[in-house]
Amino acid sequence: MTILEELSRRVGDAFAEAGLDRQYGRVKPADRPDLAQFQCNGALAAAKAAKQNPRALAEKVCARLRSDAAFKQIAIAGPGFINITLEDDALARRLGVIVEDDRLGGWQTPAPTKIVLDYGGPNVAKPLHVGHLRAAIIGECLKRIFRCAGDTVVGDVHLGDWGLPMGQLITELQREQPDLVYFDAAFKGPYPDQPPVSLTDLERLYPQASAACKADRARADEARQATAELQQGRPGYLALWKHFVAVSRAAIEQEYEDLGVTFDLWKGEADAAPLIPEMAAGLAKKGLIEDSDGAQVIRVASGEDTKKIPPLMLFKSDGGVTYGTTDLATIVDRVRSEKPDRIIYVVDQRQALHFEQVFRAADLGGLFAAERLEHIGFGTMNGNDGKPFKTREGGVLRLREMIDMVTERALARLAENGLAEGYDAAETNDIARKVGVAALKFADLSNPRISDYIFDLDRFMAFEGKTGPYLLYARVRVRSVLAKAEAAGAGAPGPMTITAPEERALALVLLGFGDALQNAHQKRLPHLLCDHAFSLAQAFSKFYAGCRIADEADPAIRASRMGLAAASGRQLDLIFDLLGIQAPARM
Ligand code: ARG
Repeated sequence: MTILEELSRRVGDAFAEAGLDRQYGRVKPADRPDLAQFQCNGALAAAKAAKQNPRALAEKVCARLRSDAAFKQIAIAGPGFINITLEDDALARRLGVIVEDDRLGGWQTPAPTKIVLDYGGPNVAKPLHVGHLRAAIIGECLKRIFRCAGDTVVGDVHLGDWGLPMGQLITELQREQPDLVYFDAAFKGPYPDQPPVSLTDLERLYPQASAACKADRARADEARQATAELQQGRPGYLALWKHFVAVSRAAIEQEYEDLGVTFDLWKGEADAAPLIPEMAAGLAKKGLIEDSDGAQVIRVASGEDTKKIPPLMLFKSDGGVTYGTTDLATIVDRVRSEKPDRIIYVVDQRQALHFEQVFRAADLGGLFAAERLEHIGFGTMNGNDGKPFKTREGGVLRLREMIDMVTERALARLAENGLAEGYDAAETNDIARKVGVAALKFADLSNPRISDYIFDLDRFMAFEGKTGPYLLYARVRVRSVLAKAEAAGAGAPGPMTITAPEERALALVLLGFGDALQNAHQKRLPHLLCDHAFSLAQAFSKFYAGCRIADEADPAIRASRMGLAAASGRQLDLIFDLLGIQAPARM
């Protein structure tokens, strides 16, 4: 149980004993930390429902609570708010429990679920861009939060490998090398094992093809035709496509690895393609497919809609499939191969309508219930102009360049702050890369997921404020405090005892981790965990400034303070791990 759950239970008991619904006992952190640690506002609503005087009712509840030795102060404020402050021993006892726990009081879900988490979506032959960056950072973090709370998660990269870009590449390559066997419809195979293109070729071919198709209708039709033929299984195209995917995938894997993002499954849109005919037959049997100008669509709008939800197009008039078709067939694949309780998509909020269509179609078709499908959207990372972030040259920013850029900036920042000096170059570079990537990831995660934010490397990289570098530095400091204390013969961390206000404040933050994790999990909001980490680092700073540690004369207090420092460090480590941030051991 988290501290708020535990307190809510006790206060709920008091409400129940007074003959009221225990739900009214819900406790939250105090709005006025100068007056109390926690508060319960339930007496007001309870009084209204029971037609009683709120203060008198609160008084009844408080009288019961006062007999509980864990509470130092139970007071009624204003019209009937119950203010709660715990005894220091009670805090210390609870701290003693969480330090014994590997997860430092991290919350466990009472109802573990199996989740397929879709948080990649990079496209073959196209570089990763900032939209993919946010999906990867937020998705990786949510995966870790789910797992820490006890859920089972299968992360799937869901490569974009089955759309029009594939036909564009095929036709573009055919212009350059028309004699390749892949284009010879009479060729019976086997096709060569060696790819006919390198990554550099792909990176050149795709923009070339896409520009040509934009400029020339005939080229666009040709590409569409090739895409449809590929999707219908033309052997030469399939063999060529496999090379495109393999070459691209190797590069994409490397980029994710640099970012510390990993997937359990490396499936793609194409993996679901074989399931499409059977799925379509099932949908047709249910009478869900309609003809619309030669295309086949599923109408997903309902009478209760407040906005217009267009039909999902299952087959275009040329027989080709759409993004919606592959997402639908991917649900069928996931349900069959993973048997999940939920499928969760971490994808740009701008695709919300697409997911609405897919979820409704899945539900109508009996493929998977809509309430088990969840789109976790996010806002865009914008440049100073308020538009999705681009490089100075105006192109999409590549992940690789992004990581180099943040590393370089971190190197400069570390030097300005007199940090990471006197280490060998390899270590300094490693620290810079960790600080740079942490700055980027923390900036992304600490931003409420659904809002847009501006890419501002100076702000992300500051050593003050709610930033990755500040937190990493706080962690390094905890470590050096403990190392110094140990070197000074201060003894080992010991049982907790709380004497100073800074200790109490730090203890309360440490004990709030369970609630932070619970909230982040239930609301799918990583920034709540970032807020907690920031409060922890700040509380540790105040504790360190206000309390002697290694040179505290009283051995019990000294041991307790070392214990508090050690617990702070461990909780920060755990949070870094949840955020997918790697911390340097020193700076
Ligand atoms: N490949 C898509 C894109 O780049 C993202 C895919 C997201 N996942 C999904 N199941 N639709 O926009």
